[in-house]
Amino acid sequence: MFVVVASILVLLQTGGLRERRVANIFRPLGTQAAHEYEIALFTFAITGAIFVIVAGLLFYIIWRFRHRPSDHNPDEPPQVYGSNQIEIAWTFIPILGVFVLIGVTSRFIFSLQDTTSQTPAERIRIVGHQWWWEVHYPDYGVVTANEIHIPVSGSTGRPVLLQLESADVIHSFWVPQLSGKTDLIPGRANTMWIDARAPGIYLGNCAEYCGTQHANMLLRVFAEPKPAYDNWIAAQRRSAQSDAAQSGRNVFESLSCVNCHTIRGTVAKGVFGPDLTHLMSRTTIAAGMLENTPKNLRDWVNDPQEMKPGSLMPSMKLTGAELNAIMSYLESLH
Ligand code: CUA
Repeated sequence: MFVVVASILVLLQTGGLRERRVANIFRPLGTQAAHEYEIALFTFAITGAIFVIVAGLLFYIIWRFRHRPSDHNPDEPPQVYGSNQIEIAWTFIPILGVFVLIGVTSRFIFSLQDTTSQTPAERIRIVGHQWWWEVHYPDYGVVTANEIHIPVSGSTGRPVLLQLESADVIHSFWVPQLSGKTDLIPGRANTMWIDARAPGIYLGNCAEYCGTQHANMLLRVFAEPKPAYDNWIAAQRRSAQSDAAQSGRNVFESLSCVNCHTIRGTVAKGVFGPDLTHLMSRTTIAAGMLENTPKNLRDWVNDPQEMKPGSLMPSMKLTGAELNAIMSYLESLH
């Protein structure tokens, strides 16, 4: 019962953001999520029927053989201990039910993981980190973080193939309206198909406890019609084009920011933190925890530990002038 109640209450809410969206598992908008929803209803129907039969018999027997004070010769129920028919029936009927559910579920799981059955609309490689998502589009040399763009399936007729890896501990990729969970496991590459039938922003979350900031390891899938998606890819392929004063870039490049972050076209080539080449094209920062506003970005750069304790980005103890210079540079990275 607890599991049922917990499932109904799957509401993904995003910490510091003003917008509140619900990732509703009862309103699937992807092929995999729709299959899982159907299997869940089928399982619920079978187990629900078992519950009604067993509970019904239980209440009937409690009522039928209840104690009556006036009854000096109460009904003795028929004794069935050792009855072969009953033993066989209540052994095989549940086993049959379990095998039907195994069959239905495994057929779906194999189709989900079958990478040879169709040509993907796009291939995306996702690497889980404590506590953010590294997102690669290997066919275009594009790298971004936490916000995944895909073409809607109506515009390509095909789903997107994800390759899921981890840089540290086990994470789990979950965008409830598009598909169920798949783990990101160190030393292993898992695959899964996703597609979105309608354009929109689909909220997801890391679904495997991975440390202090597990709950703030959010992700967003932006499903767009193919032309809009192609425009996004074209913009992301470009190297960083900054119209900011050179001083901002100089300050950034003189600090240890460059050891962890990449900005394509500059000396910043670090790979431990998110790629910042097109930072301002993302709507959120800190793995979906905060809206990407100038104030949030400034507070974040000034002291990440204040906003997301345990995050691997340290406070750089910047002076006000350094912070101003870095902000002017970051805000130019469109
Ligand atoms: Cu990553 Cu939980």
